[in-house]
Amino acid sequence: MMKRIHISILILALALILGIASYGVARMMEGGAIPAAPVPESNPLTSAKIHLGKRLFMDRNLSNPDAGKSRVACSTCHSPMLGFSDARIRSEGVYDRLGKRNSPTVFNTAYLLSQFWDGRAQYLTDPVTGEILQGTSLEAQALGPVQDPLEMNNTPENVVTYVLSAYRNELFGAFPEVEQYIGTSYEVPVVFQAVGKAIASYERTVLAFNSPYDFYAAGNTRTLFDEQIRGLEIFEGKGNCTACHPEPLFTDTTYDNPPDTGFHNIGVFREGYETGTNDATGEPLFPNSELPEYEGYDLGRYYVTSDTSDIGKFKTPPLRQLLCTGPYMHNGKYSSIRDAVEFVVKGTVSGISDPYEEDFVGDVSPVIIDIRNESWNEDEINDLTAFLEALSGGRMCGGM
Ligand code: HEC
Ligand code: HEC
Repeated sequence: MMKRIHISILILALALILGIASYGVARMMEGGAIPAAPVPESNPLTSAKIHLGKRLFMDRNLSNPDAGKSRVACSTCHSPMLGFSDARIRSEGVYDRLGKRNSPTVFNTAYLLSQFWDGRAQYLTDPVTGEILQGTSLEAQALGPVQDPLEMNNTPENVVTYVLSAYRNELFGAFPEVEQYIGTSYEVPVVFQAVGKAIASYERTVLAFNSPYDFYAAGNTRTLFDEQIRGLEIFEGKGNCTACHPEPLFTDTTYDNPPDTGFHNIGVFREGYETGTNDATGEPLFPNSELPEYEGYDLGRYYVTSDTSDIGKFKTPPLRQLLCTGPYMHNGKYSSIRDAVEFVVKGTVSGISDPYEEDFVGDVSPVIIDIRNESWNEDEINDLTAFLEALSGGRMCGGM
């Protein structure tokens, strides 16, 4: 208990310094609707780690040195000035290579059970003992893009050499236990994992809970316009959005759920044929050799579970800060919040023709089918959109 309070105070102090979400963290402190973000026992939060992690997050030298001017940092695709996203349909990595999916925001990822659109990052194992380190999805995630050929295209060895030369003191200051492994066969895995832990610690301070909606939920009824209040009623009522986007995090993929929760097929996957070839290999981006009938489609959660009932399922995104995290959906298909909402409730968007409209693969969630069986008018879609806009707040597009 003491530990949790201690961590909360630390987060609050840092959030105030960094100017992030102080209101929301204050609510966590009061034991209000927003629980404290979990911190894994294997990576206690300290200010030394947060500061190191912040610098690493912004450092293009973690990407492959051969890429020269096209080197990228985490912040290239998760820019603090763009809601920790990149305003692109799909991200561009080293050598301007086009990635597979849309860049999700880092805001509030501290609360997510697993990371990535398909949830493939869930935990790390200890490099020395091999033990599973529960609750480390952010730590596990951070080491992915560093090595992904379409993102930073680097090796653990390169990263460790660079970090040991550029951040040696900061590294040993933040992780004193690492020093004993320098020069041993554990050096690379242990230091590389410390890099992931530092970055994850920084990400745990990237919080967003100070939107007009939060003030409204805390009792200040004047912070939402009538249109937004009507939108909230539809969100919780006829729209049944809360079935998958429950308050206060607006996603069902939160850490307190069993591992497989929070993945749904809402029919966006059928755009898969437009995603083309892999810039690093020249192969199709989604070859699906095991399931040739789905050649070219992004099959989402299926890649993690190999369960055909998971084809086309993606992780429910938390709907906060949408005003600056567009375009939307795992393939960045919709450029406006309104189009994304219209697609969710109708399955089509007026003015956007879709050659794959009837081309469903996998099973669209029955909850979504029920929503689409309702009739929807323009006003209701506008109200829902206005409500979603009320979930963006504070220094949302410049969250540093
Ligand atoms: C080239 C662009 C690019 C770079 C560089 C990049 N990311 Fe990402 N990031 C993405 C994309 C795209 C996804 C979604 C990929 C997927 O789901 O398959 C993602 C996913 C994530 C997620 C998961 C969010 C969620 O809701 O599931 C986190 C956290 C994250 N990145 C942090 C980082 C960190 C930390 C770094 C640096 C070590 C980094 N990213 C580097 C583009 C990038
Ligand atoms: C069955 C679960 C489910 C329901 C119900 C649901 N959503 Fe979603 N929502 C998702 C999933 C999963 C995605 C991501 C889909 C993808 O990219 O393939 C998503 C994506 C979105 C996005 C895009 C967000 C982003 O960051 O890209 C918006 C906006 C959205 N939903 C709004 C709504 C609204 C409004 C409702 C109610 C009318 C609703 N959703 C109901 C699961 C659901």
